[in-house]
Amino acid sequence: MLKKAIHPIVLWLDSHGYSFSNFVRNSGWLKHRTIRQVIQKTTMLSYPRVLGVLDAIDYIERNAIPGDIVVCGVWRGGLVGAICDYLLPSQGRTIWGYDTFEGNPEPDDRDGRQAKKIWHRGFLSVSEEQVRRNVGNRLNVRLVKGDILNTIKTQKPEKIALMYLDTDWYASTKAELDELYPLVSPGGVVFQDDFGLCPGAEQATEDYFKDQPHKPLFVRLDVSARVWTKLAIMPQ
Ligand SMILES: C[S@@+](CC[C@H](N)C(=O)[O-])C[C@H]1O[C@@H](n2cnc3c(N)ncnc32)[C@H](O)[C@@H]1O
Repeated sequence: MLKKAIHPIVLWLDSHGYSFSNFVRNSGWLKHRTIRQVIQKTTMLSYPRVLGVLDAIDYIERNAIPGDIVVCGVWRGGLVGAICDYLLPSQGRTIWGYDTFEGNPEPDDRDGRQAKKIWHRGFLSVSEEQVRRNVGNRLNVRLVKGDILNTIKTQKPEKIALMYLDTDWYASTKAELDELYPLVSPGGVVFQDDFGLCPGAEQATEDYFKDQPHKPLFVRLDVSARVWTKLAIMPQ
């Protein structure tokens, strides 16, 4: 019902020169409803997580934080699609989506017994073709196929303004932080999807920051997602 009512409005706005992204951006209520309808079947992210990411986009834009947007663990592509809908192409940021497109590799002992129990070959697998269909034909998206342990060594942005970590296991999460966190601009935003639910990913994050001079405040978005900003100035 609501969908039927909104669709003609979106078409009308498009035909009168308002882009869909502008429309979503400028309308609080519709931002919530429309984003939810557009992406709910193509992301595992809860509603607060998606809105948290969109709020973070507003924040990096308001503060002109330089760098691209990175999603580690794309699954069906809904989060990448939502970011594309919300970002204006003129903002000049590339969205990097890393995934095997063959599902999670086998977990190891650091990921706990539950992970080993639920894992099978092809666990959470969605093909690259399917993701491209869901995300649409966007120029500013770069999908990087393969195990992130290998791909981030050679294919990564120069600077990152916003990063969403969601590959569940210890090895990939630690590699993402080792390789990509140094590229996050001061003031940039990082989301970790897997605190609580994925012990390996949580441990990898704790281990990474053990050796860092500043330990972030991991702010809860909901049961398992956390968000923090990289300090712009180190405290004395
Ligand atoms: C929990 S899902 C991601 C959910 C997604 N962020 C969303 O919006 O719905 C985990 C994804 O990470 C990918 N993945 C897991 N380990 C990986 C690795 N080592 N390298 C690349 N991709 C990986 C899986 O293929 C899967 O698509």
